[in-house]
Amino acid sequence: MKKTYVLANWKMYLDFDESNILMNQLLLEEIDHERLEIVIFPSTLALSEVEKAVRDTPFSLGAQNVAWVPKGAYTGAVSALLFKEAGASYALVGHSERRYVFGERDSDVRKKFEACLEVGITPVLCIGETKEDMDEGKRQYRLKKQLFSVFNELDLGDTPFLIAYEPVWAISGSGEGLACTPADVEDVHLWIKQEMAQYSKNNVPVLYGGSVNSENVVSYVSLGSVDGVLVGSASTTLTSFTALTQAIVA
Ligand code: PGA
Repeated sequence: MKKTYVLANWKMYLDFDESNILMNQLLLEEIDHERLEIVIFPSTLALSEVEKAVRDTPFSLGAQNVAWVPKGAYTGAVSALLFKEAGASYALVGHSERRYVFGERDSDVRKKFEACLEVGITPVLCIGETKEDMDEGKRQYRLKKQLFSVFNELDLGDTPFLIAYEPVWAISGSGEGLACTPADVEDVHLWIKQEMAQYSKNNVPVLYGGSVNSENVVSYVSLGSVDGVLVGSASTTLTSFTALTQAIVA
């Protein structure tokens, strides 16, 4: 059975103890891992400790951001290699908060994506237009550019990777938290899949993210073009996250 991806991006919402408590609480919940592929993205410092809790369980872990070189004189950076050693098997690449708050360019995103492939971490490429892009009618232009800069002349072979479509204006906290309508998501996802055909012969999973919660998640995952969701704020409490996972499998 094809699993629905549920990616829990804890961002910097939780401290060390809160991260461990939430993870241990989640382990006690009855979650349908046959139908859901759940990946938790804790803060970098909490990842090793969370890993001890999830070892030998169906939960996977991911990095929220990686450096593009494995080792070297890069103060403050944490490489994909280090994350892999700490137990991460996925990494978010090009999240809009990295692009717009920390100034990551398309060229940085490409290097990070390649760094993940090199060490064998599954990258989750996040793409999305801003409110200004929308107002100027540049949504497709922005997405096309973000895809091209990563995939142009990149030999993907059969390497697994995911794409997360997250309109910046739909993200809670850093954006305006205006969830995208399912019809709009379907249109954009179908366009992304079509666009990806020139870069990959495989069917690339495309996830939706931006103010996803237990109330609206079914409206997205029931769409044929949506292979899962990337969830920020609603993944950071036990009640909101379990309500969301239960809604999907209900
Ligand atoms: P949100 O965040 O669910 O809080 O809107 C999603 C994301 O930024 O990945």
